[in-house]
Amino acid sequence: MSTLAVELEPARSKGPATHRIQWPATRVSSLLGIRYPIIQGPFGGGASTAQLAASVSNAGGLGSFGAYGLHADQITALIGDIRALTPRSFAVNLWVSTHDAPESEMTRERYEAAVEYLRPVYASFGVQAPPYPDQFAVRFEDQVEAVLEARPPAFSFVFGIPDERVLDACRSTGITTIGTASTVAEAVALDEAGVDLIVASGFEAGGHRVSFLQPADQSLIGGIALIPAVADQVQAPVVAAGGIADARGVVAALALGAEGAQIGTAFLATQESGALPEHRAALFDAPRTALTKVVTGRLARGIPNSLTGLFPAGDEILPFPYQGYLLAPVVAAARDQHRADLAKLWCGQSAGLLSCHHADELMDALTTETTELLTAISATSVQHRPGPSLTSLDRWANEGGCLGEDSNYTIVDNPERSRIELRSGRRIAGFVQYERRVGLMALVHTDVAPEFPGHDLAGQLIIAALEGARDDGLEVLPLCPNASGFIGRHPEYLDLVPASQRGHFDLPV
Ligand SMILES: Cc1cc2nc3c(=O)[nH]c(=O)nc-3n(C[C@H](O)[C@H](O)[C@H](O)COP(=O)(O)O)c2cc1C
Repeated sequence: MSTLAVELEPARSKGPATHRIQWPATRVSSLLGIRYPIIQGPFGGGASTAQLAASVSNAGGLGSFGAYGLHADQITALIGDIRALTPRSFAVNLWVSTHDAPESEMTRERYEAAVEYLRPVYASFGVQAPPYPDQFAVRFEDQVEAVLEARPPAFSFVFGIPDERVLDACRSTGITTIGTASTVAEAVALDEAGVDLIVASGFEAGGHRVSFLQPADQSLIGGIALIPAVADQVQAPVVAAGGIADARGVVAALALGAEGAQIGTAFLATQESGALPEHRAALFDAPRTALTKVVTGRLARGIPNSLTGLFPAGDEILPFPYQGYLLAPVVAAARDQHRADLAKLWCGQSAGLLSCHHADELMDALTTETTELLTAISATSVQHRPGPSLTSLDRWANEGGCLGEDSNYTIVDNPERSRIELRSGRRIAGFVQYERRVGLMALVHTDVAPEFPGHDLAGQLIIAALEGARDDGLEVLPLCPNASGFIGRHPEYLDLVPASQRGHFDLPV
């Protein structure tokens, strides 16, 4: 089960009560400090841009930059570039494992044999075979130091779990960590390592299948089965990835137990991405996609073309990163010469759903259409319940518990702002903010004016909300620390919190 709370805002029209469903307040949005729990998937290998990441962050989501393959100084620079474009939260992404076979196995002999195989292709592009290098790939260990030093708001990673020292450093410097799982077992491993958020990536996703416990070709699970299975097994909030390109996918992800959505292909298709114009155009043609190891040596989803056809079945594909190193001059030439037939055309199965050409436009469509869709669904299935009962708060205040007997107070259940307020004259002495959905009340915030210390006003407001939830037969999610701490100290309210959720709030299960 996930922690999902949706705010109901009363419609201003007359007639029967209809309510507009606001965007969910989830742990993903609160941990990342973003308005909408939408993450732009990072793109390693050149398709990320600071502009794309900043556009998404500025529009209320989380922009990401895939820094796979970049050197430490380039990583430091790109974080500076993003910071110059947005004051908001963003993520930098790395690949934890960068080699499927040690460099010692890539002997000069084996290397020369592979070069020989590709010589006609190099010749057709007029490019030289790449020289045998000192090092085939930039190592994670070197890159991650630059990330820790620059302290981006969030650090996401794939193909493994960074060691404890790195995760501890992130915790102590306030970097939110985002791990990626392609199976339930990987999600559990990330959870046990204490990673803050877990992306559950279905096999519909574009780009590499980022498996790290079992081989990728044995980890091919679609999102509809993977997401709820992961949400059932982990404490950390889950972000759904793979096949999501519009509001329908976002709402489905939330229904499956995710608390956010990571979207790759649809952002790759926008003008702000670093994808080749030919690549972006191909995405809008609703292409067929396939998984292949030909391009890098690791399994990845893209549009089949002459590049993916270079190694017919039976021909040796070198392990990662050597295969990619050998094909790099071909890919670079295809890029320079705008040859889509020989370019790297990563693409997910959602390509048939694309319609937006700008990141802002896509964010706007996702956010407004998700609200509309949630509202449309709720109009057919949700019966609005009245606000919580205020009897206990009224009684307490009447007895002078808060402001003194001669105070002039009023208690307001302000459904328009989804909060219970206690007002002293015209001033708000304190309030508890709640969000409601079918069967559920989430307590998201309490606030008490500084001139009412020591009166237990916050506690009384929380009791009012809890009693109201009990009267209305609602379960409670204590999303704010005040509310979870209060229930921890008052176990008579523990039964209101669903047993499956208690662990999330450090409450006894
Ligand atoms: C061109 C491309 C490059 C990608 N590179 C990375 C990467 O370096 N790191 C990563 O975590 N995910 C990477 N991904 C995956 C995306 O971030 C995202 O999770 C995925 O695309 C979501 O699925 P969708 O394509 O169906 O929306 C890449 C995806 C694409 C299409």
